[in-house]
Amino acid sequence: MEYRIIKSCKEMDFSQVWEILHFYGLSDLDIDAQEEVFKNSYAVVFLMDKEKMIGVGRAVSDGRTLAALCNIAVRDEYRGNGLGKVILDHLLQEVKGCNVILYTHPKHIGLYEHWGFSKLKTAYGIFQNEEYYKNEGFM
Ligand SMILES: CC(C)(COP(=O)(O)OP(=O)(O)OC[C@H]1O[C@@H](n2cnc3c(N)ncnc32)[C@H](O)[C@@H]1OP(=O)(O)O)[C@@H](O)C(=O)NCCC(=O)NCCS
Repeated sequence: MEYRIIKSCKEMDFSQVWEILHFYGLSDLDIDAQEEVFKNSYAVVFLMDKEKMIGVGRAVSDGRTLAALCNIAVRDEYRGNGLGKVILDHLLQEVKGCNVILYTHPKHIGLYEHWGFSKLKTAYGIFQNEEYYKNEGFM
């Protein structure tokens, strides 16, 4: 499959980021807020099929010790072709040397274990909208 990898927010069409993340219910931010969180991230990855965005992901990090991966998603019709792993590998490369953490929906635990992540026994969080996360089985 032919695609381009872009690691910058410059001239990016954030309506497409919004479209992908909104489709999966991964974020309820509007387009401007989506742009803000990607621009404020340490590393971003966009996969493009010509002008069509087909995958996204970002890492929040200090660049040295700790990184959190967020919003990894591949457009529905492109799933199952290894693109999710491509996004993951590029983000990991950008935060090389860091401890990498993420939280995901309970239904994706198997995927991240498949990709080499270990379940943390001592992770804690203070979340906004905790009721939602409790109901969905995150905590
Ligand atoms: C999760 C997601 C990014 C993966 O992208 P993708 O391009 O479909 O994934 P890939 O093709 O790179 O890799 C999938 C691999 O994981 C495996 N896998 C998928 N789900 C799995 C699960 N629940 N348990 C174990 N392995 C799983 C597949 O068998 C495949 O293995 P292989 O590469 O050895 O054949 C994509 O499916 C997606 O966008 N999902 C919706 C959004 C989402 O929920 N994102 C994660 C939230 S943090």
